[in-house]
Amino acid sequence: TEIYFLLCVAEKNDAAKGIAEIMSNGRSRRREGYSVYNKIYEYEYHLFGQNVTVSMTSVSGHLLSLEFKAPFQKWHSCNPVLLFDAEVEKYCPEKFIPIKRTLEREVRQCQALVIWTDCDREGENIGFEIIDVCKAVKPNVQVFRARFSEITPNSIRRACETLTEPDINVSDAVDVRQELDLRIGASFTRFQTLRLQKIFPESLSDQLISYGSCQFPTLGFVVERFKAIQAFVPETFFKIKVVHEPNEEESVEFSWKRHRLFSHTACLVLYQMCMEDPMAKVISVTSKPKSKWRPLPLDTVELEKLASRKLRISAKETMKIAEKLYTQGFISYPRTETNMFPQNLNLTMLVEQQTQDNEWGNFAQRILESGGPLPRNGNKSDQAHPPIHPTKYTNSLQGNEKRLYEFIVRHFLACCSKDAQGQEVTVEIEIAEERFSASGLTIIARNYLEVYPYDKWYNKVIPLYTADTTFQPTAIEMVEGQTSPPQLLTEADLISLMEKHGIGTDATHAEHIETIKSRMYVGLTADQRFLPGELGMGLVEGYNSMGYEMSKPDLRAELEADLKLVSEGRKDKASVLSYHVAKYKAVFIESVRKAKKLDEALSNYLGPAQEITEQEQGEMEIPLPVRKCPQCNRDMVLKKKKDSTRMFLSCMGYPACKAAVWFPDTVLEVSRDESICPTCHPYPVHMLKLKFKRGSLPPMMPLEFVGCIGGCDETLREVLNLKYIRGGASATSNKPPTAKRPRTCGICHEPGHTRVTCPQGR
Ligand SMILES: *[C@@H]1O[C@H](CO)[C@@H](O)[C@H](O)[C@H]1NC(C)=O
Ligand SMILES: *[C@@H]1O[C@H](CO)[C@@H](O)[C@H](O)[C@H]1NC(C)=O
Ligand SMILES: *[C@@H]1O[C@H](CO)[C@@H](O)[C@H](O)[C@H]1NC(C)=O
Ligand SMILES: *[C@@H]1O[C@H](CO)[C@@H](O)[C@H](O)[C@H]1NC(C)=O
Repeated sequence: TEIYFLLCVAEKNDAAKGIAEIMSNGRSRRREGYSVYNKIYEYEYHLFGQNVTVSMTSVSGHLLSLEFKAPFQKWHSCNPVLLFDAEVEKYCPEKFIPIKRTLEREVRQCQALVIWTDCDREGENIGFEIIDVCKAVKPNVQVFRARFSEITPNSIRRACETLTEPDINVSDAVDVRQELDLRIGASFTRFQTLRLQKIFPESLSDQLISYGSCQFPTLGFVVERFKAIQAFVPETFFKIKVVHEPNEEESVEFSWKRHRLFSHTACLVLYQMCMEDPMAKVISVTSKPKSKWRPLPLDTVELEKLASRKLRISAKETMKIAEKLYTQGFISYPRTETNMFPQNLNLTMLVEQQTQDNEWGNFAQRILESGGPLPRNGNKSDQAHPPIHPTKYTNSLQGNEKRLYEFIVRHFLACCSKDAQGQEVTVEIEIAEERFSASGLTIIARNYLEVYPYDKWYNKVIPLYTADTTFQPTAIEMVEGQTSPPQLLTEADLISLMEKHGIGTDATHAEHIETIKSRMYVGLTADQRFLPGELGMGLVEGYNSMGYEMSKPDLRAELEADLKLVSEGRKDKASVLSYHVAKYKAVFIESVRKAKKLDEALSNYLGPAQEITEQEQGEMEIPLPVRKCPQCNRDMVLKKKKDSTRMFLSCMGYPACKAAVWFPDTVLEVSRDESICPTCHPYPVHMLKLKFKRGSLPPMMPLEFVGCIGGCDETLREVLNLKYIRGGASATSNKPPTAKRPRTCGICHEPGHTRVTCPQGR
């Protein structure tokens, strides 16, 4: 069909504005939508070989949220284990309804929809949310995806010329992550919060004790380092130090080739030998070129680490600023795993843009005049975005925005220039057959260091020595030292560990770190290092003592790897989802069973645990499944009727699924047997241990036996009055009929008759 009106949707209002500005050459008209934050920019554009009218608008990140269906939303609504199977749905939160209405209104006039969200996993998923909303009101709208890494004229034009289809696999990976995060997060959070609030009412009465499958391993790293420091026992070591001061100005310290010894006696023997014949003989003097490498192109993780280390800006703040610089067109997309420049990127042009700056302009000019940019390249590529680099010159920024932009520019120019060059001299000497050495450095060309003050390299002058000569050292000393413990983690260390162990993605590291801070699981020391709090320590120790790797990275790392495979179309959404739900559910059930260990670990920090009653304990326990529910396929478990001893088999899906099997009064005791019925298929059915009232069974039968209620045992079926559908025990309740309460008439509100027979209704 012909396209005359086109709806474009970007991820943020700033991005929409920037893209519109470029596509319209600054001639777009601004209109209001229903949301005051998301404007509509309208202009003409030449596309598909014709003139089209474009309406460019935006969302504000994710438009839809995932939530459990109503019966499961409230905290006390159900046993948290049910949250692994409870139904979930996507819905539009109240605050985004105006945006949704704008999309619905605008798309009605349009023949095509172009998704301009950020080109990463979340962006693709947001794209599908927009598509779902639009297609609901206009099913036949054509859908395209614009792919771009920066909001610059070239890049936007290229995106328009090469519109593609949105990638459902990438979006699916986000759906899987969202659903798992919801189920795992909600179940564990409810479980541990409800339990620990009850057990430590004084310390935790109103505290939300959140769990997340990324959060906990992140916390685990902090705790592990802290414990390593606590467990550290310093060791005393000894070494020999040689100092030479040939004249007033010069002084050099030689270090021992043996580095250090832990035995005082051994070191003393060697030291005394040196002192007996303290003449130093120069064995060799070698001089060789030494270079200091310029930095690799910048990916997200490096940006976060360097900004944290060199600029003291936290990862979260860094990403927020970078995002803003990107939507304003100053830098390329800041979420990237790539550290090599693609062939088709015109680096010359990018360096040229920077020549006008007062501080680094001359340096940029020199790059152009001495052979052009020659970037050092890494070997990582996400095939989607180039390394982070400046895309437009500006000198109008302030504060941390200015500092971060400057850092990105300087890093880019450094990477495009040359390694620093120096000459290193190493002198090796011998005293009583013990070897020592010292080295000096002369910097010949600072090269990239001139534009990159974040790296330091210093000249080190040492006196001139000649091989085969001897000299008398000024001092030979035996010195004592102590090994020192590792230090608490910095944010940069933590990001490195998360990356190494596959926790989160480059897009989410900063958020997980922020979460453990905001939950008070960790705090920051004065020198910005992470210190675990008591609650954080207790939780990690508790889960560790259960023997499950809840605060270790493996579980989550496997999940993260599977998400990648889903996004690449190499694994399907449903199987990955069900595999990980089952795995975390098993861990959950086990954790609840061993919950006392959590209490114990925490009581080391929060004081004695409050005793809880047997009933409360029972309510928190999760019964083991007897069989699958034939109606909804969830687990069925044994339960005791409230205020009675009567047992029934209940579906975990209650109240959504009301399937139940009631045992008659003649059954005195029922319990689950470990054995599984050999006959019933396809799902395992556990046998039940039953005890009957005397006289309630045919005379040949014993009063206690193990039987199957899966449908295979004819006698038991009759005795228990089970009804059957297609070979399985009836799922519809076999509850014995109770006297029916007479219905109340809807017309006259009198009992005993219906609308149809109501005298007033006639
Ligand atoms: C599109 O518009 C431009 C100027 O607005 C005009 O010159 C051109 O002929 C139009 N093209 C078509 C295919 O209508
Ligand atoms: C790159 O940009 C420079 C200056 O802007 C230009 O002279 C050069 O032709 C461009 N190179 C390519 C391959 O497009
Ligand atoms: C990439 O580079 C790193 C170090 O820069 C190296 O350890 C790694 O083996 C390289 N990987 C590949 C696939 O070449
Ligand atoms: C998406 O995944 C499916 C397999 O799950 C694959 O057949 C398809 O080619 C993938 N699509 C894209 C765009 O990669």
